[in-house]
Amino acid sequence: MPVLTFANTKGGAGKTTAVLILASELAGRGHRVTIVDADPRGWISRWHAIAGASSLISVAPVSEETIEAATAKAKKRGGYILIDLPSSHDALLAKAVGLVDHVLIPVQGCAMDAHGGAEVLELLRELDQSCGVRIPHSVVLTRVNAAVTTRALQAAKDFLAARGIATLSTAIAERAAYRDVFDKGGLLQAMNPLEVSNLARALENGSRLATEVMALLPQKAARAAAPRKAAIAKAA
Ligand SMILES: Nc1ncnc2c1ncn2[C@@H]1O[C@H](COP(=O)(O)OP(=O)(O)OP(=O)(O)O)[C@@H](O)[C@H]1O
Ligand SMILES: [Mg+2]
Repeated sequence: MPVLTFANTKGGAGKTTAVLILASELAGRGHRVTIVDADPRGWISRWHAIAGASSLISVAPVSEETIEAATAKAKKRGGYILIDLPSSHDALLAKAVGLVDHVLIPVQGCAMDAHGGAEVLELLRELDQSCGVRIPHSVVLTRVNAAVTTRALQAAKDFLAARGIATLSTAIAERAAYRDVFDKGGLLQAMNPLEVSNLARALENGSRLATEVMALLPQKAARAAAPRKAAIAKAA
Protein backbone atom coordinates (compact mmCIF):
# COMPACT_ATOMS: atom_id res chain seq x y z
CA MET A 1 0.00 0.00 0.00
CA PRO A 2 2.45 2.64 -1.09
CA VAL A 3 1.51 6.22 -0.26
CA LEU A 4 2.83 9.22 -2.10
CA THR A 5 2.18 12.89 -2.45
CA PHE A 6 3.10 15.74 -4.74
CA ALA A 7 4.16 18.75 -2.73
CA ASN A 8 5.06 22.27 -3.73
CA THR A 9 3.94 25.27 -1.72
CA LYS A 10 3.66 27.30 -4.91
CA GLY A 11 0.17 27.33 -6.36
CA GLY A 12 -0.24 25.92 -9.86
CA ALA A 13 2.99 23.90 -9.83
CA GLY A 14 1.15 20.92 -11.33
CA LYS A 15 0.47 18.81 -8.24
CA THR A 16 -3.15 17.91 -8.93
CA THR A 17 -2.45 17.27 -12.61
CA ALA A 18 0.36 14.88 -11.70
CA VAL A 19 -1.93 13.04 -9.25
CA LEU A 20 -4.52 12.61 -11.98
CA ILE A 21 -2.01 11.42 -14.59
CA LEU A 22 -0.67 8.84 -12.19
CA ALA A 23 -4.09 7.72 -10.92
CA SER A 24 -5.29 7.29 -14.49
CA GLU A 25 -2.31 5.20 -15.50
CA LEU A 26 -2.31 3.05 -12.36
CA ALA A 27 -6.04 2.33 -12.68
CA GLY A 28 -5.50 1.60 -16.38
CA ARG A 29 -3.01 -1.08 -15.31
CA GLY A 30 -5.59 -2.59 -12.99
CA HIS A 31 -4.36 -1.18 -9.69
CA ARG A 32 -6.67 0.13 -7.04
CA VAL A 33 -6.04 3.81 -6.33
CA THR A 34 -7.30 6.00 -3.51
CA ILE A 35 -6.84 9.71 -3.94
CA VAL A 36 -6.83 11.50 -0.63
CA ASP A 37 -8.11 14.94 -1.59
CA ALA A 38 -6.62 17.34 0.93
CA ASP A 39 -7.28 20.44 -1.16
CA PRO A 40 -10.37 22.25 0.15
CA ARG A 41 -11.12 23.39 -3.40
CA GLY A 42 -11.63 19.72 -4.26
CA TRP A 43 -10.53 19.64 -7.92
CA ILE A 44 -9.98 15.90 -7.79
CA SER A 45 -13.34 15.31 -6.10
CA ARG A 46 -15.03 17.35 -8.83
CA TRP A 47 -13.26 15.40 -11.56
CA HIS A 48 -14.27 12.15 -9.89
CA ALA A 49 -17.89 13.26 -9.62
CA ILE A 50 -18.09 13.45 -13.42
CA ALA A 51 -19.21 10.10 -14.74
CA GLY A 52 -16.66 7.79 -16.31
CA ALA A 53 -13.85 7.49 -13.79
CA SER A 54 -12.67 3.96 -13.18
CA SER A 55 -14.32 2.00 -10.38
CA LEU A 56 -10.77 1.25 -9.27
CA ILE A 57 -10.35 4.89 -8.22
CA SER A 58 -11.92 6.21 -5.07
CA VAL A 59 -11.56 9.69 -3.71
CA ALA A 60 -11.60 10.64 -0.04
CA PRO A 61 -11.96 14.35 0.73
CA VAL A 62 -10.05 15.15 3.92
CA SER A 63 -9.05 17.97 6.23
CA GLU A 64 -6.00 18.34 8.44
CA GLU A 65 -7.98 16.58 11.18
CA THR A 66 -9.04 13.59 9.09
CA ILE A 67 -6.07 12.99 6.78
CA GLU A 68 -4.40 10.40 9.00
CA ALA A 69 -7.52 8.30 9.59
CA ALA A 70 -8.51 8.48 5.91
CA THR A 71 -5.03 7.39 4.80
CA ALA A 72 -5.06 4.50 7.27
CA LYS A 73 -8.46 3.44 5.92
CA ALA A 74 -7.20 3.67 2.34
CA LYS A 75 -4.25 1.45 3.25
CA LYS A 76 -6.68 -1.24 4.35
CA ARG A 77 -8.37 -0.99 0.97
CA GLY A 78 -5.01 -1.70 -0.66
CA GLY A 79 -3.50 -0.42 -3.88
CA TYR A 80 -1.85 2.96 -4.30
CA ILE A 81 -2.66 6.02 -2.23
CA LEU A 82 -2.03 9.46 -3.71
CA ILE A 83 -2.46 12.56 -1.56
CA ASP A 84 -3.41 15.76 -3.38
CA LEU A 85 -2.17 18.66 -1.27
CA PRO A 86 -3.07 22.33 -1.53
CA SER A 87 -0.24 24.82 -1.95
CA SER A 88 -0.08 26.02 1.64
CA HIS A 89 2.97 25.49 3.79
CA ASP A 90 1.37 24.53 7.05
CA ALA A 91 0.64 21.71 9.47
CA LEU A 92 -1.26 19.82 6.77
CA LEU A 93 1.87 19.60 4.64
CA ALA A 94 3.98 18.44 7.57
CA LYS A 95 1.35 15.88 8.51
CA ALA A 96 1.02 14.60 4.96
CA VAL A 97 4.75 14.15 4.38
CA GLY A 98 4.81 12.12 7.57
CA LEU A 99 2.33 9.67 6.07
CA VAL A 100 3.99 8.97 2.77
CA ASP A 101 6.65 6.66 1.37
CA HIS A 102 7.78 9.21 -1.17
CA VAL A 103 7.31 12.93 -1.76
CA LEU A 104 7.41 14.09 -5.36
CA ILE A 105 8.10 17.76 -5.84
CA PRO A 106 6.83 19.10 -9.14
CA VAL A 107 9.00 21.92 -10.39
CA GLN A 108 8.45 23.93 -13.55
CA GLY A 109 11.40 25.18 -15.49
CA CYS A 110 15.08 24.63 -15.11
CA ALA A 111 16.24 26.03 -11.81
CA MET A 112 15.24 25.81 -8.20
CA ASP A 113 13.96 29.35 -8.55
CA ALA A 114 10.72 27.49 -7.95
CA HIS A 115 10.59 28.80 -4.43
CA GLY A 116 7.74 26.49 -3.41
CA GLY A 117 9.77 23.41 -4.29
CA ALA A 118 12.68 24.74 -2.27
CA GLU A 119 10.38 25.20 0.74
CA VAL A 120 9.34 21.56 0.61
CA LEU A 121 12.96 20.46 0.31
CA GLU A 122 13.77 22.67 3.31
CA LEU A 123 11.00 21.05 5.39
CA LEU A 124 12.28 17.58 4.47
CA ARG A 125 15.85 18.60 5.34
CA GLU A 126 14.68 19.97 8.69
CA LEU A 127 12.87 16.72 9.52
CA ASP A 128 16.01 14.79 8.67
CA GLN A 129 18.49 17.01 10.51
CA SER A 130 16.57 17.86 13.65
CA CYS A 131 14.42 14.75 14.06
CA GLY A 132 16.29 12.06 12.15
CA VAL A 133 13.24 11.43 9.97
CA ARG A 134 14.25 10.73 6.39
CA ILE A 135 11.46 10.93 3.89
CA PRO A 136 12.46 9.80 0.40
CA HIS A 137 11.78 12.50 -2.14
CA SER A 138 12.46 13.47 -5.73
CA VAL A 139 11.84 16.42 -7.97
CA VAL A 140 9.77 15.86 -11.08
CA LEU A 141 10.12 18.46 -13.80
CA THR A 142 6.69 19.37 -15.05
CA ARG A 143 4.84 21.39 -17.68
CA VAL A 144 7.87 20.92 -19.88
CA ASN A 145 7.30 22.33 -23.33
CA ALA A 146 7.44 19.63 -25.98
CA ALA A 147 9.88 21.82 -27.90
CA VAL A 148 12.43 21.69 -25.08
CA THR A 149 15.40 19.65 -26.24
CA THR A 150 16.64 16.55 -24.47
CA ARG A 151 19.84 18.47 -23.91
CA ALA A 152 18.13 21.38 -22.12
CA LEU A 153 16.19 18.92 -20.00
CA GLN A 154 19.38 17.07 -19.15
CA ALA A 155 20.98 20.37 -18.13
CA ALA A 156 18.08 20.97 -15.70
CA LYS A 157 18.50 17.48 -14.27
CA ASP A 158 22.27 17.99 -13.95
CA PHE A 159 21.66 21.31 -12.17
CA LEU A 160 19.51 19.56 -9.57
CA ALA A 161 21.83 16.56 -9.30
CA ALA A 162 24.78 18.88 -8.61
CA ARG A 163 22.82 20.10 -5.58
CA GLY A 164 22.21 16.57 -4.39
CA ILE A 165 18.54 16.59 -5.36
CA ALA A 166 17.20 13.40 -6.90
CA THR A 167 15.20 14.07 -10.05
CA LEU A 168 13.00 11.68 -11.98
CA SER A 169 14.29 11.00 -15.44
CA THR A 170 10.71 11.28 -16.71
CA ALA A 171 9.53 14.88 -16.98
CA ILE A 172 5.83 15.71 -17.37
CA ALA A 173 5.20 17.52 -20.61
CA GLU A 174 2.70 20.32 -21.17
CA ARG A 175 -0.21 18.52 -22.86
CA ALA A 176 -3.76 19.55 -23.70
CA ALA A 177 -5.01 16.14 -22.54
CA TYR A 178 -3.83 16.83 -19.00
CA ARG A 179 -5.96 19.99 -18.91
CA ASP A 180 -9.00 18.68 -20.75
CA VAL A 181 -9.39 15.56 -18.63
CA PHE A 182 -10.45 17.71 -15.66
CA ASP A 183 -13.48 18.99 -17.57
CA LYS A 184 -14.33 15.79 -19.39
CA GLY A 185 -13.90 13.43 -16.44
CA GLY A 186 -12.85 9.80 -16.76
CA LEU A 187 -9.43 8.38 -17.40
CA LEU A 188 -6.89 9.84 -19.81
CA GLN A 189 -6.98 6.54 -21.70
CA ALA A 190 -10.70 6.96 -22.35
CA MET A 191 -10.30 10.32 -24.11
CA ASN A 192 -11.00 10.58 -27.80
CA PRO A 193 -7.76 10.94 -29.80
CA LEU A 194 -9.74 12.79 -32.47
CA GLU A 195 -10.71 15.47 -29.96
CA VAL A 196 -7.48 15.80 -27.99
CA SER A 197 -4.24 16.69 -29.68
CA ASN A 198 -1.24 14.46 -29.04
CA LEU A 199 -3.20 12.12 -26.76
CA ALA A 200 -0.89 9.20 -27.58
CA ARG A 201 2.12 11.20 -26.42
CA ALA A 202 0.32 12.24 -23.25
CA LEU A 203 -0.49 8.59 -22.51
CA GLU A 204 3.04 7.47 -23.24
CA ASN A 205 4.36 10.16 -20.89
CA GLY A 206 1.93 9.04 -18.16
CA SER A 207 3.01 5.45 -18.61
CA ARG A 208 6.71 6.27 -18.27
CA LEU A 209 5.97 8.38 -15.20
CA ALA A 210 4.00 5.57 -13.53
CA THR A 211 6.69 2.98 -14.26
CA GLU A 212 9.39 5.18 -12.77
CA VAL A 213 7.31 6.16 -9.73
CA MET A 214 6.24 2.56 -9.03
CA ALA A 215 9.89 1.53 -8.98
CA LEU A 216 10.58 4.15 -6.30
CA LEU A 217 7.91 2.90 -3.95
CA PRO A 218 8.15 0.01 -1.53
CA GLN A 219 5.39 -2.44 -2.36
CA LYS A 220 5.06 -3.23 1.31
CA ALA A 221 5.61 -0.04 3.19
CA ALA A 222 7.01 -1.46 6.38
CA ARG A 223 8.36 1.13 8.73
CA ALA A 224 8.09 2.37 12.26
CA ALA A 225 5.23 4.82 11.99
CA ALA A 226 4.95 5.85 15.62
CA PRO A 227 8.40 7.46 16.20
CA ARG A 228 8.13 9.19 12.86
CA LYS A 229 4.73 10.64 13.77
CA ALA A 230 6.00 11.99 17.07
CA ALA A 231 9.03 13.62 15.42
CA ILE A 232 6.90 15.27 12.76
CA ALA A 233 4.39 16.61 15.30
CA LYS A 234 7.36 18.21 17.09
CA ALA A 235 8.69 19.79 13.88
CA ALA A 236 5.31 21.09 12.60
N1 LIG B 1 1.51 19.02 -17.66
C1 LIG B 1 0.55 19.91 -17.86
N2 LIG B 1 0.04 20.10 -19.10
C2 LIG B 1 -0.94 21.01 -19.31
N3 LIG B 1 -1.49 21.77 -18.35
C3 LIG B 1 -1.03 21.62 -17.10
C4 LIG B 1 0.00 20.68 -16.78
N4 LIG B 1 0.25 20.75 -15.45
C5 LIG B 1 -0.58 21.67 -14.96
N5 LIG B 1 -1.35 22.21 -15.93
C6 LIG B 1 -2.38 23.26 -15.80
O1 LIG B 1 -1.84 24.26 -14.92
C7 LIG B 1 -2.79 24.66 -13.96
C8 LIG B 1 -2.28 24.34 -12.55
O2 LIG B 1 -2.07 22.95 -12.46
P1 LIG B 1 -2.49 22.12 -11.15
O3 LIG B 1 -3.86 22.49 -10.73
O4 LIG B 1 -2.18 20.71 -11.42
O5 LIG B 1 -1.44 22.72 -10.11
P2 LIG B 1 -1.45 22.57 -8.53
O6 LIG B 1 -0.02 22.56 -8.10
O7 LIG B 1 -2.27 21.41 -8.12
O8 LIG B 1 -2.16 23.93 -8.09
P3 LIG B 1 -2.72 24.31 -6.64
O9 LIG B 1 -1.52 24.68 -5.82
O10 LIG B 1 -3.60 25.48 -6.93
O11 LIG B 1 -3.43 23.12 -6.10
C9 LIG B 1 -4.08 23.94 -14.31
O12 LIG B 1 -4.85 24.78 -15.11
C10 LIG B 1 -3.62 22.72 -15.10
O13 LIG B 1 -4.59 22.31 -16.04
MG1 LIG C 1 -3.88 21.30 -6.83
